[in-house]
Amino acid sequence: MTDLPPSVRLTTGRGGLPVLLVDGPAARGEVYLHGATVTGWTPAGQDPVLWVSPTAQFSAGTAIRGGVPICFPWFGALAGHPQAPAHGFARLSDWSLAGAQDDGENVTVRLRLTDDEATRSSAWPHRFEAEYTVVFGSRLTLSLQVTNLGDHEVVIEEALHTYYRVDDIRAAEVTGLEGAAFHDRLAGPEASPGEPGPVRFGSETDRIYLGSTAAATIRDPGAGRAVVITKDGSAATVVWNPWIDKARAMSDFGDDDWQRMLCVEVANIGRTAVRLPPAGSHTMSATFELHPDPDAKETP
Ligand code: BG6
Repeated sequence: MTDLPPSVRLTTGRGGLPVLLVDGPAARGEVYLHGATVTGWTPAGQDPVLWVSPTAQFSAGTAIRGGVPICFPWFGALAGHPQAPAHGFARLSDWSLAGAQDDGENVTVRLRLTDDEATRSSAWPHRFEAEYTVVFGSRLTLSLQVTNLGDHEVVIEEALHTYYRVDDIRAAEVTGLEGAAFHDRLAGPEASPGEPGPVRFGSETDRIYLGSTAAATIRDPGAGRAVVITKDGSAATVVWNPWIDKARAMSDFGDDDWQRMLCVEVANIGRTAVRLPPAGSHTMSATFELHPDPDAKETP
């Protein structure tokens, strides 16, 4: 059993699933071992940053709808394998706790997933180790390191599928992706050359910015804050909001909850998928930091 600092507690969470509760000097946090899903990050003096669906299911075999599910080792549907679960098996797997530390400022939690009989008989049968490091502080840093333990090259897709809370999606916008080409998953296969302004939301949005290594900022004037998302080892960014009809069609999504959430995902997908030679390793990381929004609504 891993020794835990007093600021980290392993307990039973929703649906009877094991959860790590973090109460650190600079932030509180929560991580389910199921999917290594971070379901909470609340920097001191702030409101929670991550959105978790009020109707999320916490059970084996289901991905938690909210927080930061990990898409790995493929994103979306796996070509040629219609039965394979969307976004890969990592978000459905039980990860093991590899360690936790508190340095007096940040609390770090490490989780691990390796191939097992189930993954070896899946549509992606390769030998691997994934180590996920989550640093809870005034910033949240997520690093996913994947190592190829097999004797041939493997190709991985991955995404930190982060659900952010927003006050009102219609007033929110994402900056940093101006001029970046994207693939609109709701349109045809043609890439769009990109848009001059920020991403704004007035209908279902499902875009993959392939080739984008830039930082992105979610501006949320209603909440008076912005989340700056910086990244490393990632050449794709996904922006997703299901809007009205898709939200209604999902059993683990409240009918009106599309208004209060937005996914911006740090990823490697499609032509930006990562090729790992035998013993090769790759780390993709994302850091989130809160800032006041310059157009914040005055509180009366
Ligand atoms: C996004 C995809 O990353 O995830 C969308 O771009 C998808 O196409 C969404 O609908 C949610 O996926 P899921 O499998 O969690 O319902």
